[in-house]
Amino acid sequence: MRSWAIPLSAGLLVPALIAAAWAAGAPQASVQSREAKSVITVCARCHDMQIVMDTPKSMDAWQVTMQKMVDLGAKGTDQQYDDIMDFLRRTITTIDVNSAEPDELEIVLNASQTTAQAIVARRQTKKFTGLADLKSVPGVDASTVDSKARLIFFN
Ligand code: HEC
Repeated sequence: MRSWAIPLSAGLLVPALIAAAWAAGAPQASVQSREAKSVITVCARCHDMQIVMDTPKSMDAWQVTMQKMVDLGAKGTDQQYDDIMDFLRRTITTIDVNSAEPDELEIVLNASQTTAQAIVARRQTKKFTGLADLKSVPGVDASTVDSKARLIFFN
């Protein structure tokens, strides 16, 4: 089997990925992380990273896409796949605040366990209707919510 190396163009893709992740609301520190490097190493081999940053998906849908990419020939270590899922969840994953599991709320909304539980407790009495409503929960970070507005749904 042909071995593969980090593509020569990976260096050029880094700024594009950082810009795209920034636009998607990722905190800058996280895009320079090991997670981001794993995404570039494994995923940028076949296509531009823009294709990833342009197609927000639910957590479940990302699992399906990852499997599809492996079937298409993506190669990475377990650590790299964990890193990639972490990166996708924190930057480009959609969430339904009214039905998401608590751990999903924590990761996607960058919230503490206590805050995620407060969201769950609140929606049991009254469904959330919008971003302002979500921001009224103690502990929810308003700037995170604003920067992720296009990823947050209230079904
Ligand atoms: C071996 C080559 C290869 C690698 C490596 C690869 N992809 Fe893909 N990817 C493709 C091809 C081919 C398509 C277009 C085919 C399609 O859309 O079914 C695609 C399309 C996509 C799409 C758009 C289609 C969709 O389902 O939304 C996304 C998102 C995506 N890839 C994400 C990733 C991620 C994340 C990684 C890293 C884990 C990755 N890809 C690694 C080959 C690859």
